[in-house]
Amino acid sequence: MTSMNLTFTPGALLRGRRAVVTGGVAGIGAAIARSFAAHGAHVLIADVNPIGDVDFDGAAGGRLDAIVADVCSSQVEPALVEHRPDILVNNVGHFVRAPQEFTADTAEQWAGLHEVNFAHALRLTHALLPGMTERGRGAVVNLTTVEAHRAIPGHTVYSAYKAALMQFTRSLAAEVGPAGIRVNAVAPDLIETAQVPYGDLVPEQDRALWPLWSPLGGPGKPEDVAGAALFLASDLSRFVTGSTIHVDGGTHGAGGWVPRPTGGWTNRPRNP
Ligand SMILES: NC(=O)c1ccc[n+]([C@@H]2O[C@H](COP(=O)([O-])OP(=O)(O)OC[C@H]3O[C@@H](n4cnc5c(N)ncnc54)[C@H](O)[C@@H]3O)[C@@H](O)[C@H]2O)c1
Repeated sequence: MTSMNLTFTPGALLRGRRAVVTGGVAGIGAAIARSFAAHGAHVLIADVNPIGDVDFDGAAGGRLDAIVADVCSSQVEPALVEHRPDILVNNVGHFVRAPQEFTADTAEQWAGLHEVNFAHALRLTHALLPGMTERGRGAVVNLTTVEAHRAIPGHTVYSAYKAALMQFTRSLAAEVGPAGIRVNAVAPDLIETAQVPYGDLVPEQDRALWPLWSPLGGPGKPEDVAGAALFLASDLSRFVTGSTIHVDGGTHGAGGWVPRPTGGWTNRPRNP
């Protein structure tokens, strides 16, 4: 490994790289795709929705293209393989349904959750790894969730498949590290997107309570997650693999501890 000057100004971090970002038309995926392109990557988005006008800083020579594709279909789109990416962001994932108890679930619902939160990432990673191996370089970034690391009652199967994606990240990282490929995860929480529109979910009168929810308040922005993904896709993280970055304002680390309005801390309900 060559030495790296850690006082350097990074500049464009992905100049000349090629990236595939799933679900890159909206939310976190869109912020990741734009930041990669602004850092010089040629990004190909695969999304069920068409892309509109996208604004990004093209000074580093980056480019942003998109195809309309459902990553949950059983065939990987050939255009994604033909793009020859050395970066893959498996961003698509969803609760799919309103919260309900596990006993009310159906096997069809499990199959849908399995596909959208786990299986498509296996299929696409499997299709793109041979090219990365051939080129001796690759970075895979999987979007998990804080709930891969703690409970989410009402979404038990969603959290189980996200935890599976986190474990896939670790074990695959060990397997493909010797081939020059790194595999990491980002676990968001509290990011304002169409999937979890905190602006609508948290009424005006409760917004002052954000600091009780997370040490850094909230909500976070898709760009906050893009920063972590950019780090994991770039050579800045060249000695990092099998890891998860928690982009959550500190909820995972705090583990349920919140400040009492009267001072001090509690991890008990109703502030006893
Ligand atoms: N927002 C949060 O706070 C949060 C918290 C935890 C985890 N996450 C994870 O982050 C990732 C992105 O979340 P988000 O909030 O930006 O989601 P979002 O629902 O706002 O955006 C998802 C994007 O993926 C596209 N998409 C959906 N299904 C697709 C499919 N089958 N094929 C191709 N494209 C598809 C949508 O069109 C959209 O552009 C997900 O994996 C999610 O589980 C988000």
